[in-house]
Amino acid sequence: MMSSRKTEWGATGAVTSLDAAPRPVRRPRRLRQTAAHRSLVRETHLSAGDLIAPLFVEEGSGGKTPIAAMPGQYRFSVDALLEEAGALAALGIPGIALFPAISEDLKNATASHAVDPDGLYPRAIRAVKEAFPDLLVVTDVALDPYSSDGHDGIVHGGRIHNDKTLDVLAAMAVVQARAGADFVAPSDMMDGRVAAIRQALDAAAFTDVGILSYTAKYASALYGPFRHALSSAPRPRASVPRDKKTYQMDPANGAEALLEADLDVAEGADVLMVKPGLPYLDVVRALSTRFPEIPLAVYNVSGEYAMVKAAAAAGFLEEREVVYELLLSMKRAGADIILTYHAKDAANWLREDVQRG
Ligand code: PBG
Repeated sequence: MMSSRKTEWGATGAVTSLDAAPRPVRRPRRLRQTAAHRSLVRETHLSAGDLIAPLFVEEGSGGKTPIAAMPGQYRFSVDALLEEAGALAALGIPGIALFPAISEDLKNATASHAVDPDGLYPRAIRAVKEAFPDLLVVTDVALDPYSSDGHDGIVHGGRIHNDKTLDVLAAMAVVQARAGADFVAPSDMMDGRVAAIRQALDAAAFTDVGILSYTAKYASALYGPFRHALSSAPRPRASVPRDKKTYQMDPANGAEALLEADLDVAEGADVLMVKPGLPYLDVVRALSTRFPEIPLAVYNVSGEYAMVKAAAAAGFLEEREVVYELLLSMKRAGADIILTYHAKDAANWLREDVQRG
């Protein structure tokens, strides 16, 4: 045995079959040997400064209501919202994306409460900006939280009326800007809304308020927990379209996202966004390649969060490692900004990792 082994390893100088095997000249493993090596050659970095935390606000005071399908997420009363916003800011998270839960009796077919300057939403925006002027507030421009039909646009004759909706979107963006929004974020997918909103903001002298556009927002089944949290799903009535497929994009389409991006850039969007995140990283990559000069965001949505939370709670996944990997994948694909319900946890973990060294 020994002698044959020796021979095999060339100790006798004999040419053996193993010696003849070609040795790799390039060994990528060389740069993976230690944590120090890996740190030096790491291509993508995640930091709290990349994250925006979506938060829900509801009427009432001094409390927060847990959202069943989104463990760790709440609908906050305005005062509880301030506490949460302060905690996020202290963690180095630069902004929040705020969504309102509007009581049913204030909803109607024209979503008129969306433009009430004294409504819950403008009050919440004002309160956050007064308490934390440096924390960016991204506001949602779409009718669904205020619509008795549960649609992002106005339902007219059983269809979503694009241009009637534009007028309301533009007016609500101005109300939000007046309340202190740093970015308005149209999530409605009506055609021409970025131009309509830009024009209205500028006419009201809000030239410094940015537009973060939901450029490629897909008709995804992953918004379920969010709609549940806000009771904002399309209403099951014969006169109301049962889904959002006539305005949100078909999950089968990638090239169409380029058209949406071209339109948004031409209409003046400051930041583009792809939504959801994980199943659409090809679209993130495509938009970052097409417009390297325009910041790109991705929305890691409620259903993506719910899947991770459920698997982690069952003990099937290591939550922290999985969240890092998912968020990194979004940055690697080309996103500069990530809207994620994991923001607070991720910022806390990143801080712990720095302290541990
Ligand atoms: C609606 C809106 C939705 C989300 C953000 N804004 C849901 C929808 O389009 O029905 C989803 C966010 C999430 O699932 O986390 N304008």
